[in-house]
Amino acid sequence: MTTEDERGARLAAQLDSFRLETRLPNLVLRPPVSNDGPNMQARTRDMRNTQFLPHLHAKVSQPLSEVHEWIELMRRDFGTRCLFLLVEFDGQVIGESGLGFLDWSHSQAEAGIMLSHQVWRRGLAYEALLASVRFGLEQLGMDRITLGTLEDNVGMRALLRRMGAGEGTPRVRTDGRLERVYEVTSQNLAVV
Ligand SMILES: CC(C)(COP(=O)(O)OP(=O)(O)OC[C@H]1O[C@@H](n2cnc3c(N)ncnc32)[C@H](O)[C@@H]1OP(=O)(O)O)[C@@H](O)C(=O)NCCC(=O)NCCS
Repeated sequence: MTTEDERGARLAAQLDSFRLETRLPNLVLRPPVSNDGPNMQARTRDMRNTQFLPHLHAKVSQPLSEVHEWIELMRRDFGTRCLFLLVEFDGQVIGESGLGFLDWSHSQAEAGIMLSHQVWRRGLAYEALLASVRFGLEQLGMDRITLGTLEDNVGMRALLRRMGAGEGTPRVRTDGRLERVYEVTSQNLAVV
């Protein structure tokens, strides 16, 4: 087993006890469990939440069985390939964040976030994403965390600017839409 495999395996072993604290005492991230299915399904079915996430548009009528399959996959790959986490605020699940595409050999990963529209603009996404990104950089030893968002996702772009990621690099997606790819490192990360 290589060192990279060991790091992933160590994390995977924590699946049932893993908690990622944020700077807010009532905001915490944790892996999903089967009971989270209905909550996740409801968020993904609401186009207000997914308007800038084209890959989720087809899931607007996703059956619960598929959400459960997704949860199982995220639990199976936890630590080795991804760190998919639900965001809990005051004990209620309000969204999803964490890391994806863990690339242990190149020390990089992707991050993302989606919160339910009812809780936007309270600073919760910044804190949840900050915790995810910092965990990747500081605890997992990743050199960079990348994030992509559509050009017209004004909210996410402002949040990333605030996080120190600048304006990102424009790129045309395969569907022709313009997106921006951002990179957060220990050097540019802005903790405000
Ligand atoms: C993008 C998203 C995560 C932002 O969540 P949020 O909880 O509203 O973000 P925060 O409250 O932490 O915002 C932090 C800062 O980002 C900026 N910001 C966030 N939303 C903004 C908006 N709609 N317009 C302008 N600036 C915005 C602001 O600077 C804000 O600070 P302020 O409220 O003090 O001005 C949320 O809108 C969301 O989940 N959208 C749907 C999913 C999505 O598009 N995810 C990104 C995919 S890549």
